[in-house]
Amino acid sequence: MVQKRNKFSSRFGFIAAAAGSAVGLGNIWKFPFEVGKGGGAAFLIIYLFFCFVLCYPLLITEIAIGRRSRKNPVGSFKAMKHPNWTFIGYLSVLCGVLILSFYNVVAGWVFGYFVEILLGNFDIGKNFETFITDISEVGGYSLLFMVVTAFIVSKGITNGIERASKILMPVLVTIMLFLSIYALTLDNAMEGVKFYLVPDISKLNIEVIYRALGQSFFSLSLGMGALITYGSYLKKQEDIISSGAIVTLSDVGIAFLAGLMIFPIVFSQGLDTDGGTGLIFVSLPGVFENMGPVLGIFIGALFFLLLSFAALTSTISLMELPVSYLVDQKKVRREIAVWISAGVIFLIGIPSLIGNGYSEFFTNFITYFGAEKATDFMTFITDLALNTFLPIGGFFISIFAVYVWKRRKLFRELSYGNEKFLKSWIAKYVGFCLQYIAPVVLGIVFVITVLEVFFGVHLFK
Ligand code: TRP
Repeated sequence: MVQKRNKFSSRFGFIAAAAGSAVGLGNIWKFPFEVGKGGGAAFLIIYLFFCFVLCYPLLITEIAIGRRSRKNPVGSFKAMKHPNWTFIGYLSVLCGVLILSFYNVVAGWVFGYFVEILLGNFDIGKNFETFITDISEVGGYSLLFMVVTAFIVSKGITNGIERASKILMPVLVTIMLFLSIYALTLDNAMEGVKFYLVPDISKLNIEVIYRALGQSFFSLSLGMGALITYGSYLKKQEDIISSGAIVTLSDVGIAFLAGLMIFPIVFSQGLDTDGGTGLIFVSLPGVFENMGPVLGIFIGALFFLLLSFAALTSTISLMELPVSYLVDQKKVRREIAVWISAGVIFLIGIPSLIGNGYSEFFTNFITYFGAEKATDFMTFITDLALNTFLPIGGFFISIFAVYVWKRRKLFRELSYGNEKFLKSWIAKYVGFCLQYIAPVVLGIVFVITVLEVFFGVHLFK
């Protein structure tokens, strides 16, 4: 029996869900510390370049593939009669599982911060390192997060994703706007703004480039077919071109806002910009404390609560990958697929959970060739899944779309819902980016990443 596929009930529902997938810890937790690590504005510029030149064209391509095939990433290539490309779908499921495994741990930290600040514990910022080694507490929050995600996914796409993201996204943006404006009034704020917005070209190197690339893909949920799944639920008459633009702009805008909020704070507190995964966790509580107990608890707890929700709309989209694979391809019942995935992913996440100081083995998990220091498990998974697999996935998707499926057919799919597309400059721009820039840039950066990061071969030093 063929089940009728759920569809998004409105255009806004689709945009909210796709933006909900895109906007998450990637924008608010990861983006600022990557900017800090990458030396500020230099990273920001490269990041913006990748978002508009590579990511936007790929984003609408993924959605178009999904809508054309009406399948999850594994089934879609078969449905389009190119079964040899099914490996992209498997890569997608693998990436979804790997990313969600560590993402869920960080989401647990965020939720833990909500609880701590609600209890008035502003010292949590200074005690971040100890907090993340308290495995029973942090592990409990992660588990809770996974259970909530699984519950929502098991309810089905329209009910769960759409309703949740519709209400929560605008509230989050409002509170971030408030915090950025507040941050600008702090002492030394301008130093932070300068660091963030005035590029220092000497900071630019190949590592900054591939980190910015991985970050742009991760932040837009790209390169592994997550948006193929979303596209598969989209109606023919919907306009992919402008919906995709709205999703890209809001995701980039929110990341940008997060930077504008964090760097003045980091500078006003005299913290190290290269604070790594702890950057927002260490710097924000002090700000809430300064607002006084009542306002501080209110704004602080609300911020971390909303950040938990932003993370939730992303964990939902990540969970959807293994689940829709099991449901569509393996004919597993949705509820069962959800709970199997949740259990397996939680287990795979345990090394990330305990690899932040609690377990010596996973904290100093691997030393890459030529590296001085060992890398912890979570960073290793990030390097692998995010900085390596996502761009390579993007590489194959761009090749598939223009050279195998063919540009003509891709463009026809994109033009449903936007009749003017075929004759517009956007079509030329997207075509050029996909056909030439994406394969070349992604191919080169991929080779360099693998050589540099994992094998310590420095081509440019
Ligand atoms: N984009 C999300 C973020 O920025 C993370 C995410 C959700 C994701 N779904 C994805 C990343 C699919 C890659 C692929 O937080």
